[in-house]
Amino acid sequence: MADLQSIKTRYGIIGNYPALNRALEKAVQVSPTDISVLVMGESGVGKEFIPKIIHAESRRKHQPYIVVNCGAIPEGTIDSELFGHEKGAFTGATSTRKGYFEVADGGTIFLDEVGELPLQTQVRLLRVLESGEFMKVGSSQIQKTNVRIVAATNVNMLNAINDGRFREDLYYRLNTVQIDMPALRERKGDIHLLFRKFAIDFAEKYRMPELILNDDAINYLENYPFPGNVRQLRNLVEQMTVVEQNRNINARKLSEYIPMQSQLPAVIQKGQGVSSNEFHSERDIMYKILFDMRNDLNDLKSLTSELIKNRGNGDLSSQEKSLINRVFTPEPQNPNPGSLMYFENGNHTTAQNPNLINSQNSPYEEVEDIEIEEAKPESLSLQNNERELIVRALEKHKGRRNRAADELGISQRTLYRKIKQYNLEE
Ligand SMILES: Nc1ncnc2c1ncn2[C@@H]1O[C@H](COP(=O)(O)OP(=O)(O)O)[C@@H](O)[C@H]1O
Ligand SMILES: [Mg+2]
Repeated sequence: MADLQSIKTRYGIIGNYPALNRALEKAVQVSPTDISVLVMGESGVGKEFIPKIIHAESRRKHQPYIVVNCGAIPEGTIDSELFGHEKGAFTGATSTRKGYFEVADGGTIFLDEVGELPLQTQVRLLRVLESGEFMKVGSSQIQKTNVRIVAATNVNMLNAINDGRFREDLYYRLNTVQIDMPALRERKGDIHLLFRKFAIDFAEKYRMPELILNDDAINYLENYPFPGNVRQLRNLVEQMTVVEQNRNINARKLSEYIPMQSQLPAVIQKGQGVSSNEFHSERDIMYKILFDMRNDLNDLKSLTSELIKNRGNGDLSSQEKSLINRVFTPEPQNPNPGSLMYFENGNHTTAQNPNLINSQNSPYEEVEDIEIEEAKPESLSLQNNERELIVRALEKHKGRRNRAADELGISQRTLYRKIKQYNLEE
């Protein structure tokens, strides 16, 4: 069995903490088996090393290794991507297509962000995991495949199960072995090592002298909570390598890039027993109340509309009719009549191509600093408050929509739609 140091060298993994070593050791240990593995950890902690190691250290290493980012594929096409489709299965299916499970026969599939899989896909996945059987979309012919699955998630799967967004049986099937990747803030001693490695890499890439940290700066980095983990550190070093004239970096310089006080309270206090499901300022609580009120209102509207449907329009007085018209007609300033759909359908909205808004692995590739917005004059319109609440939830969770949706108490699909509606895609 490959020893730990050679694994680290081979994959360019930096770090010496027991929790990291344990994760890597476990990956090597399970690699010769066909056991399903679930990798858990925050965004940017290096989860992707695990399926790579498992595949490359297994008998499957000469067979295909396919990475599927489940959160980035639109709900409408994911079954066909994974399992293939027959010609004519749906509009645009002009020829038969093989899915990843057929192509990867004999190899390994890495299902990244597995918590984002739609329920109907979860059913198909469970079947292929249990029996190796699947059917192309639009076909009734059973096919066989032999694929090893490694899945990863940064969402709390137990919450997802409780909310009915993830099947419990599938969770246990995927989670035969669980590998936890530690957050960077839990292995402070690795931070400087990682900084030096990235400083050397980027100095070479951009043909610049290497960045050097003074003691203050090292101390600053070790106390910074790194919500975006190693990915955030890597992006920081890349940015500074290119931008900074002076190669000697002190704490003040770092604070211009990653100011301590810009951290949202919940992030700083993470791990200190503060529930991430709570908002922390009075203003946040106000927004939450308003948002809940709006949800209640929506529920009332859909209830009323049900009642009206059951009773039949003919029985209504003209006063009732005009009231209904007023309540159910979208407000003129609403740019998207979709909110009416929201009232009618509750959370069950159609997918709006999440690919467009969720195609990046991490918000840190685009968002450099996270800053608390200065208090502005409050707007009393519900819509503005909803928009603001969504912005704040997204900021708080560094753009992780699944967590933001959890916090807001709405489904991810609804959140996607609202993000579009309010033009929050940037
Ligand atoms: N221990 C580590 N040593 C070196 N690079 C790392 C380490 N952990 C993460 N990285 C780098 O950080 C980035 C994010 O890692 P990734 O596996 O994509 O994170 P995740 O999938 O957990 O969001 C990648 O560029 C990866 O190479
Ligand atoms: Mg990833």
